[in-house]
Amino acid sequence: TDVVPFEGAHQAGIATDVQAHLHFAAFDVLADDAAGLAGLLRDWTAAARALVSGRPVGEGGAVGGDPLAPPADTGEALGLPAARLTLTVGLGPSLFDDRFGLAARRPAALVDLPAFPGDTLDPARCGGDLAVQACADDPQVAVHAIRTLSRIAAGRAAVRWAQLGYGRAATVDPSAPTPRNLFGFKDGTANVPGADTAALDEHVWVAADDALAPGERWMTGGTYLVARRIAMHIETWDRTSLAEQEQVVGRTKGEGAPLGGSREHEAFDPATLPTASHVRLAHPSRHGGARMLRRGFNYTDGATGLGRLDAGLFFLAYQRDVRRAFVPVQQALAADDALNEYVRHTGSGVWAVPPGVGAGGWWGEQLL
Ligand code: HEM
Repeated sequence: TDVVPFEGAHQAGIATDVQAHLHFAAFDVLADDAAGLAGLLRDWTAAARALVSGRPVGEGGAVGGDPLAPPADTGEALGLPAARLTLTVGLGPSLFDDRFGLAARRPAALVDLPAFPGDTLDPARCGGDLAVQACADDPQVAVHAIRTLSRIAAGRAAVRWAQLGYGRAATVDPSAPTPRNLFGFKDGTANVPGADTAALDEHVWVAADDALAPGERWMTGGTYLVARRIAMHIETWDRTSLAEQEQVVGRTKGEGAPLGGSREHEAFDPATLPTASHVRLAHPSRHGGARMLRRGFNYTDGATGLGRLDAGLFFLAYQRDVRRAFVPVQQALAADDALNEYVRHTGSGVWAVPPGVGAGGWWGEQLL
């Protein structure tokens, strides 16, 4: 079946096998109190249940309602399969303020990301009170889902920025062929496998016995999402020799094997890789064993206006605590990664991803 179950202890779209397409949107909330916010999240959840099952939203759907009224569903997904659509919702740091009386409920792990050396962030691609990650094997299904949630939110939340992605640049299934990013390298080789519940419990899901203050227990079973829009200077990269490209990454381009090795998934000692190589600097052995579940997508957003494609990686990473995973890893990468010559971080956000939705439940009910 191409329907991913919506309900569960954790939200779908994280450990789920990565779909082929992404539409990601960050929202500013316009509702001015907690009841308004809760109402929006209830309505979104109801719509999400229909969308992920491949059903149109609302009474009458796209064509079965009152002919004198605008249809409840916009219609462009009529006849399309569910396409393994998942919708995953996150709550940004800016949501935990006086508007909604949530200041005391902000998890300590939901830090504002520090500025990293070399950041060239565009404020128009940063932040957001809410984030929705829509992943599907059909791009129209993912876009229909985001459009529908945005339409349902009218007057209560507005799209702040959004990103389309394609060609998953990560896998959570080590037995499937590893996809490639726009530098032509396999991406996701050493990722946290989506079926490895022990690794997920250790590195991705917030546990009940984490040192959670009383106000943040609602995050049990949740996780934290970091998104970075990373522009890749593919024209410069394409003028770089194969040997140099492999030195920069620390793996071979064809097989994806650690340099000095011959097979993609073989064990390796990162200390044997080039000092400034990406894999050596990002390796868990340098960061107290910290890992994250990477779920990024490639993007091309037209041209830069300077005779180049505006291309890159929309990096998405889920983790139990950003203070132990993304932040220290990105600090090490920003300081020394040989890849920095070829990439620029242009967008950023961090969100608390609440736990999954049970029967009759709704996104964020543990908080609101
Ligand atoms: C590994 C590419 C950004 C963290 C890798 C690999 C490639 C790659 C080719 C090796 C294959 C694999 O194990 O997945 C890139 C590119 C990036 C980028 C092209 C930017 C455009 C980042 C960022 C982070 C990160 C921002 C985190 C702050 C990691 C980690 C690994 C990895 C943790 C696995 C290391 C290991 O355990 O061996 N990346 N990456 N990457 N990357 Fe990146």
